[in-house]
Amino acid sequence: MGAESLSRESAAAVENPAPALAVRGLCSHYGPVQAIADIDLDVYPGELVTIVGANGAGKTTLLHTLSGVQAASGGSVTFDGSDITNRPAHRITARGICHSPEGRQVFAPLSVEDNLLLGAFARREDKAAIQAEIAHIYGLFPVLEEKRALAAGTLSGGQQQMLAIGRALMGRPKLLLLDEPSMGLSPLLVSEIFRVIRELNDQGVTILLVEQNARAALQIADRGYVLESGRVALCASAAELLQDESVRKAYLGH
Ligand SMILES: Nc1ncnc2c1ncn2[C@@H]1O[C@H](COP(=O)(O)OP(=O)(O)OP(=O)(O)O)[C@@H](O)[C@H]1O
Ligand SMILES: [Mg+2]
Repeated sequence: MGAESLSRESAAAVENPAPALAVRGLCSHYGPVQAIADIDLDVYPGELVTIVGANGAGKTTLLHTLSGVQAASGGSVTFDGSDITNRPAHRITARGICHSPEGRQVFAPLSVEDNLLLGAFARREDKAAIQAEIAHIYGLFPVLEEKRALAAGTLSGGQQQMLAIGRALMGRPKLLLLDEPSMGLSPLLVSEIFRVIRELNDQGVTILLVEQNARAALQIADRGYVLESGRVALCASAAELLQDESVRKAYLGH
């Protein structure tokens, strides 16, 4: 796994010298409270990069700032060579950054399939392309197809998480932002969700994965960033972070 991670990382960097996402000196505040400070981060095309950190480290704020939901108070975000700092969220989605938010946030009264269709709102494509994407998502998560006509609110927590990821995929992301997809799930479902995240990455989707489950995230990622009190404390290959003494103590339980 370690050697594979390193070779995946160098392959991505060699084949694609320009990052898909380049974050420089990014800051964001809630009123007077600074939640993230001076963040530098790159994601190369095809990479799976994880951000790990404790409660309140600023992980969600960082993703919100990337997707335009939260204002940047300093620094810049460049995506596919264009400056997208503080662009409206719908414009950022239309450029191909799709966000599966923390806490799932599915539309409970709507059916599973209608939730997926909502994820395609930014796409001006024919019905056949959208149906093909829905079929792809049902292939990844067969239980969603079984429950396609049921209200999303009747799904289990794990199934709602699958639906939230599926809805983000309906935007045909060039970059998929995932915020704590394993939160509140049983160990069995955690491995199922992480298997699918890895599969999506193998299919070519570039992924930025925020997780408190540092071990599971680092086991599937190419590289990782450790966020502490709103700042990047460490950045290395996932294999190196899994071996790092301070990371093991603080985030891996030994
Ligand atoms: N709406 C808000 N208003 C004021 N402060 C906020 C708000 N949301 C977050 N914060 C503060 O910003 C900091 C970063 O929070 P954030 O939610 O980004 O962390 P996180 O790493 O995602 O945490 P968690 O692992 O609990 O999801 C924390 O100190 C938090 O208290
Ligand atoms: Mg969070």
